[in-house]
Amino acid sequence: MDKIIIYGGNRLKGEVTVSGSKNSALPILFSTLLTDDSMTITNIPSLTDINTAISFLNFIGKKITKKGNTVTVHSSYRCKRYKHIAPYELVRKMRASILVMGPLLARLKKVDMSMPGGCAIGARPIDIHLDAFKKLGAEILVKNGYIKTFVRNDLRGTAINLNFPSVGATENILLAAVLAKGETIINNAAREPEIEDLANVLNKMGANISGAGTNKIIVNGMKKLSGFTCHEVIPDRIEAATYIIAAAITKGEIILKKVIPQHLDFVTNKLKKCGLFIKETEDTILAKWTKNLRPQNVKTGVYPMFPTDLQAQWMVLMCLLNGYTSYIEENIFENRFLHVAELQRFGANITINGKTVNIKGVEKFSGAPAMVSDLRAGAAIILAGLAASGKTTVSRIYHLDRGYDTFEKKLKKLGANIKRVHYDDT
Ligand code: UD1
Repeated sequence: MDKIIIYGGNRLKGEVTVSGSKNSALPILFSTLLTDDSMTITNIPSLTDINTAISFLNFIGKKITKKGNTVTVHSSYRCKRYKHIAPYELVRKMRASILVMGPLLARLKKVDMSMPGGCAIGARPIDIHLDAFKKLGAEILVKNGYIKTFVRNDLRGTAINLNFPSVGATENILLAAVLAKGETIINNAAREPEIEDLANVLNKMGANISGAGTNKIIVNGMKKLSGFTCHEVIPDRIEAATYIIAAAITKGEIILKKVIPQHLDFVTNKLKKCGLFIKETEDTILAKWTKNLRPQNVKTGVYPMFPTDLQAQWMVLMCLLNGYTSYIEENIFENRFLHVAELQRFGANITINGKTVNIKGVEKFSGAPAMVSDLRAGAAIILAGLAASGKTTVSRIYHLDRGYDTFEKKLKKLGANIKRVHYDDT
């Protein structure tokens, strides 16, 4: 069991290179099931979720290797021998495993997927995915904890009106519709930059997708897709914003390199309103603390609104604006306030009222032992520890390794007093 130990209070200063986006890399990796040709994908972050996805794809029958931040998908002629099963052990580890459904339905016409269980941030059903597959012509049976999906003839393009712009469902529909017969129209599609990145990859494979990045996506199905030379995954906007908030709470000054500033507009505009100094170039962002920081209320929403994946980190910043009150409303996930109890250990003054938290800013945090419940809650705890006086010990940090590429190394380089230690529980 690894833990992270932080002695807080250091101002973070320097440059940090943002890694490739986890939420882009995962669907892109699953898209490789749509062809037997080779391809190279660069700027893949080093994360346990990525390793899980690669192991899963190799289990299904692909030949995929990762060296540094480059993934090579080797050509294979084994589509017919692909396994059509997504076992409990894999789906339980990573919810994004459900993205095998679209491509396997398209190519094998069947897939048996273990039901994704509940997770730390709410029930997270998959009804939108399944309703869309039914509209495309799939039949679905639930048996022995597995969702058995199959297509008797072909997947057929149709109009799909999502009742909520689910990111995963939009991706799963794209991953199936590119090989369906005829035209698929996704209305009320998710607009996240990761959807556009996936669509760009699929178009490089020969798909015909237009409108990705808007709420209406049109896909003209193809008989076959092929490989491509190279695709570079977009930068991780959530990782980038986490470092900007780190600069704000440690009275620091950080330059983010290899970032797409427009993907962060909603957040950086909020931070500018808070009084943080922000200067953007084409692919960098400078974030510098000023003594005039003031709170901003936040309501999470779908892109381009404030991302739920930054709600916990934002809370840390609001907690440290002494004497000011603010609120945060979580509109995407139920039960995404598990970090509140942990932040209270540091001295935060927060009350939960349904889907809203009310925050009274305190003068300072004091270091505390804390436990990570989910990925972004973990980032918030690390931020709290960086701002707190004294020692913070963070356990269950495997959640962090799922989504932050070499987090403590990057923070250390910026001047944090942080280290990972191995505890033997035996
Ligand atoms: C993706 C991101 C995750 C982010 C989330 C919202 C990846 C790998 N993960 O997750 O980091 O927090 O978008 O921006 O990209 N829902 C249903 N039925 C469904 C699908 C979703 O009710 O069939 C609900 C979910 O329970 C949740 C909301 O819709 O309350 C948003 O889910 P969705 O947009 O699908 O998020 P994910 O794709 O799971």
